Amino acid sequence: MERKRFEKKTAIVTGAGKGIGYEIAKSLLLEGATVILNDLDYELSEKSAAALSEFGTCLAFAGDVSDPDFNREIVDFAVARTKTLDIVLANAGITLFGSFLEYQPKDLYQVLQVNIGGAFFLAQSAGKYFISNNKKGSILFTSSVTGHQAHKDLAAYGMTKAAVELLAKHLVLELSPYGINVNAIAPGATLTERTLEDPEYVKTWANLTPIGTAAYPTDIAKVALFLVSEDARHITGQTIVVDGGWTSVSPSPF
Ligand SMILES: NC(=O)c1ccc[n+]([C@@H]2O[C@H](COP(=O)([O-])OP(=O)(O)OC[C@H]3O[C@@H](n4cnc5c(N)ncnc54)[C@H](O)[C@@H]3O)[C@@H](O)[C@H]2O)c1
Repeated sequence: MERKRFEKKTAIVTGAGKGIGYEIAKSLLLEGATVILNDLDYELSEKSAAALSEFGTCLAFAGDVSDPDFNREIVDFAVARTKTLDIVLANAGITLFGSFLEYQPKDLYQVLQVNIGGAFFLAQSAGKYFISNNKKGSILFTSSVTGHQAHKDLAAYGMTKAAVELLAKHLVLELSPYGINVNAIAPGATLTERTLEDPEYVKTWANLTPIGTAAYPTDIAKVALFLVSEDARHITGQTIVVDGGWTSVSPSPF
């Protein structure tokens, strides 16, 4: 029988109550991993982990990734409950739209704390565990095409996504000597519950995306799994853009 890629491995996925993170958690479970599913929303964490338990061991751990202490606690929880930790996906991110000239300090600091702080401190906590337990772990940040190109009302968000990509590069210096790789994935428009709240989203992005459709969460999950798998062991400090060609031709091929 073929061995599953992530058997005997534990992965943390943040912001996974729905959307891209949920799909990544499901894909990891289907490939044999034990998953610690985080969401800010306690009920959603519990409900999503229970739903995914039909595919494997999925444990809920609710909390706010913008709190550095939380990022230590989730690593401790993973290790206490599963005796290991091999992979962390800092996926939770928030998008607070607003024009640059009107943007409010409280919104900026919230976006920075969730999108950058959440990635930074989860990587730090996991990195410490990996190093002290001699584990060649994998870390993946969820970036965005807005970290590559300007997008209306997304200066703050886009800046945080560029930051996590550069963070992956910087961590190469400190973590490569221990065999830990750190990468980022930058999705383009993706059809999640959140983006589908806009009734025009599917049509707009089908027109704007050279490949003719926005991404499905499975398109993102497949690449994410590759980046945290043994096959990508020699890839570190990199970002893979998964955008159906949008950043090659943006703003619009039409
Ligand atoms: N959907 C897209 O089109 C798209 C495109 C590019 C990048 N991204 C990035 O992908 C990631 C996932 O996006 P999505 O659209 O699937 O997410 P989403 O907006 O649907 O949110 C997923 C979950 O994250 C949780 N969350 C929010 N703040 C949190 C916090 N502080 N701590 C823990 N959980 C928190 C929410 O409760 C929600 O259930 C994000 O980093 C996002 O920036 C998404």
